[in-house]
Amino acid sequence: MRVLSIVGARPQFVKLGVICRAVERFPKDLQHRILHTGQHYDYEMSEVFFRELGIPMPDFNLGVGSGPHGAQTGAMLSAIEEVLCRDRPDWVLVYGDTNSTLAGALASAKLHVPVAHVEAGLRSFNRRMPEEINRIVTDHVSTLLLCPSETAIQNLEREGLGGRATWTGDVMLDAVLYARDSGSRKTVAPEEGDYALATLHRAENTDDRSRLIRILTALERVSEEVCPVRLYMHPRTRAALSDVNWSPKFLRVNKPLSYFEMISAVSRAQFLLTDSGGLQKEAYFLQTPCITLRHETEWVETLHGGCNVVVGDSGAAIHAAAAKADSAGPWGTPYGTGEAGIAVIQALLAHAATL
Ligand code: UD1
Repeated sequence: MRVLSIVGARPQFVKLGVICRAVERFPKDLQHRILHTGQHYDYEMSEVFFRELGIPMPDFNLGVGSGPHGAQTGAMLSAIEEVLCRDRPDWVLVYGDTNSTLAGALASAKLHVPVAHVEAGLRSFNRRMPEEINRIVTDHVSTLLLCPSETAIQNLEREGLGGRATWTGDVMLDAVLYARDSGSRKTVAPEEGDYALATLHRAENTDDRSRLIRILTALERVSEEVCPVRLYMHPRTRAALSDVNWSPKFLRVNKPLSYFEMISAVSRAQFLLTDSGGLQKEAYFLQTPCITLRHETEWVETLHGGCNVVVGDSGAAIHAAAAKADSAGPWGTPYGTGEAGIAVIQALLAHAATL
């Protein structure tokens, strides 16, 4: 069986690492190749993940880079199509909800190459998010929907896609357990002492400058009054701030961390402030309280016990949640036991016979 993983953005490299390790546990006639669209290209957004997680160099690198959604997705679509026409795999694996996911799924479906979607069935029910459009379209054109949670399966059933859905558990849990066991021995968290960790990059938060400044002002206040905040800044946010007059007073602003550094930093943080999907779960797995800087979350299981609190962009709500973050818990286990990578490969093998 020949499987082609299509990835392009930072969170996908972490999931790909899990699949690469799982593949090694199967017979050699399972061939796994990697296509990198080039959506993320900075060292700290891409290469460091391949190095740290021991992921083989991509077999194809399209070098598509940044751009408006149509141009970026279109460039990926046409380049992926060329690769697929030359090198027809038995399965294409796509991950998550980025433009690389959408382009990979669409190019494959049009060429009748079976597509399996890792992290299928997630919904925020906010169609203004580019990620929500990417998820919905990807799920509808995919052959096999690999779900991290029961909620994801229910979402797919409501859209008439239940027949293609399989529960695998969450590959991100496999990744966190791997990082905790192997990475944290090699990597120390950036600094000791009490701190809260923040990240911010969603288009809905960065593209509206007044909203961006409102959130940063709230983080400043949390940093001054509750707990020192370290913000690991995504290039999109840095770019958005280049044309506004903002400089941090209490916030410590740093470059993005590698995966092992991030897992180590999350596990030691008092709490997290983030608009990332992945970090909400990483915080949950590591039992660090999370404050989500969005108006909704796809990871609804993390909300139980106040382990994750959705606060939007209101300064007062962000401050109030930070002040009582230490009352979060208890944490549950809704995302499996960390064997999702194996379950993904088993599902591909089981369904290959029926294609
Ligand atoms: C993408 C995903 C988002 C995911 C995020 C993780 C889409 C629609 N969005 O958002 O779901 O949570 O990745 O990081 O696919 N840039 C650089 N260097 C890089 C990459 C990006 O400077 O290596 C800058 C560029 O200015 C670019 C901007 O970041 O224009 C946005 O990058 P893009 O890949 O379009 O979206 P992300 O915000 O990273």
